[in-house]
Amino acid sequence: MTVLEVSRYRPGVDAEPVFQSYDVPDHDDWAVLDGLNYVKDAVDGTLSYRWSCRMGICGSCGMTVNGEPRLTCGTFLADYDGPIRVEPLRGFPVIRDLVVDIEPFLGKLSSVSPWLIRKGEDPASEFAQTPQQLEAYKQYSMCINCMLCYSACPVYVLEPDFLGPAAIALAQRYNLDSRDEGDRFDVLSTDEGVWGCTFVGECTSACPKHVDPAEAIQRYKLTAAVRSVLPWVRP
Ligand code: FES
Repeated sequence: MTVLEVSRYRPGVDAEPVFQSYDVPDHDDWAVLDGLNYVKDAVDGTLSYRWSCRMGICGSCGMTVNGEPRLTCGTFLADYDGPIRVEPLRGFPVIRDLVVDIEPFLGKLSSVSPWLIRKGEDPASEFAQTPQQLEAYKQYSMCINCMLCYSACPVYVLEPDFLGPAAIALAQRYNLDSRDEGDRFDVLSTDEGVWGCTFVGECTSACPKHVDPAEAIQRYKLTAAVRSVLPWVRP
């Protein structure tokens, strides 16, 4: 058997989170999420957590596993020796047990206007794109909004107003799209935007989809710096 030490917490009822241990059967192909599903189905139906696709696509099963932000559907019991500690994602208010409040995160995503902004054309028009133009932003479109990068980011954990890795990478997904004519400077070039990042790089290490938000942030810092300086150097 593998022991899962799971954080249990009901805000407003419990004084603080406590760990509850559950024995789950050993199966080489069981992910941590399978262990939680076993607990929920066979041992304790009151355990609360999020999941949906079970294949690393929906981004809803992010939790802290032995201290690291992980997708629990892609993190296997067999990869650990001894008890496995499962906690909610760090940096987010807990709603219950392993479920965190994602509303502030969703607000950050929408604040960067994550859609193609065009000026004046017929929206029914077709806008062709070369493979090279697609490649310029493609990696940023792979984000699944799992919030692991926020949980790994030491700036976000201390400064919840920081726009954060996924939202800035999402902005760059559109900034670098040849079809986009939007301007996200006022949101991105602020102390809560790219200038809040201290380039620790943990966001990129934590990303399960191999997106590089740290690079997106540094690239936009350069863009913003050039744009800020240009009026002073232009004749
Ligand atoms: Fe969808 Fe894990 S359950 S990403």
